[in-house]
Amino acid sequence: MSTLPVPLPGGTWTLGDLTVTRFGYGAMQLAGPWVMGPPADHDGALAVLREAVALGITHIDTADAYGPHVTNRLIREALHPYPDPLHIVTKVGATRDEQGGWPPARRPEDLRRAVDDNLENLGLETLDLVNLRLGDARGTRPGSVAEAFETLVELQQQGLIRHLGVSNATPEQVAEARAIAPIVCVQNMYNLAHRQDDELIDELAGQGVAYVPFFPLGGFTPLQSSALTAVATRLGATPMSVALAWLLQRSPNILLIPGTSSVAHLRENIAGAGLPLSDEDLAELDRIGR
Ligand SMILES: NC(=O)c1ccc[n+]([C@@H]2O[C@H](COP(=O)([O-])OP(=O)(O)OC[C@H]3O[C@@H](n4cnc5c(N)ncnc54)[C@H](OP(=O)(O)O)[C@@H]3O)[C@@H](O)[C@H]2O)c1
Repeated sequence: MSTLPVPLPGGTWTLGDLTVTRFGYGAMQLAGPWVMGPPADHDGALAVLREAVALGITHIDTADAYGPHVTNRLIREALHPYPDPLHIVTKVGATRDEQGGWPPARRPEDLRRAVDDNLENLGLETLDLVNLRLGDARGTRPGSVAEAFETLVELQQQGLIRHLGVSNATPEQVAEARAIAPIVCVQNMYNLAHRQDDELIDELAGQGVAYVPFFPLGGFTPLQSSALTAVATRLGATPMSVALAWLLQRSPNILLIPGTSSVAHLRENIAGAGLPLSDEDLAELDRIGR
């Protein structure tokens, strides 16, 4: 029997007509080193996915570029046929090259192929939510999203996609996409130490749009800060737990997709994310990224 919090910390959020737990799971780390090739521990990867769902997580974030194809096929192998409450969110707009780079792939034909690949590798007839991934591996880049986003809107009208979002997007690109069609989420890099989207988060919260921080724990280089360690030590918690608890308390529209390839870390993260942070804790943590 699980001793972890039920319901999960943060409760739920509604993406369009889909209810998901605010505590989700990011599947990128399940592929091989630098998100290329198969994982060293295939069965371990399946176990993490099954444990996530067993613990009540109903939001898994993925992309067919992870591996490429590896993560989606692992999700299918571990969880198909998917339980009704589970929603898989994917993204299109980048591919992989032989060096493990992430070149943009946002021409209409690239996007159509990517949606087909996601459907096939996940074993789905409709994708619940597709994020248009903009910018590049170094971050956001300005520029119009119209042609690419309109292509996804066409695929949505054809019934291949239920809801749309944008990722790695500037506030101007978010606004441009929203003027074309409704979006239910923005997935951008954000964590205790990277606060560039503070204004955007608050604006989206007022409009009922989810904000899904990627690299919530710092990504390939986990967060390190003396203030984070000090707060965690005072609370008898791990720094990762405090980083997740801070995100959940930062704004009600924030959904978590922390990545891990370890069942133990998954359980630890769920157990810690509900940690109540006092005003004093929050003030100390707030200073990290400012
Ligand atoms: N839209 C985009 O452009 C974009 C870009 C990057 C990522 N994403 C999405 O965001 C999700 C999250 O990003 P991420 O996984 O790269 O970064 P992350 O969640 O910030 O951090 C993951 C790293 O933290 C470690 N970790 C997790 N829990 C831990 C714990 N309790 N103690 C110590 N270490 C712990 C993991 O190692 P272990 O495996 O050892 O636990 C892993 O190395 C991805 O899965 C992906 O779905 C989207």
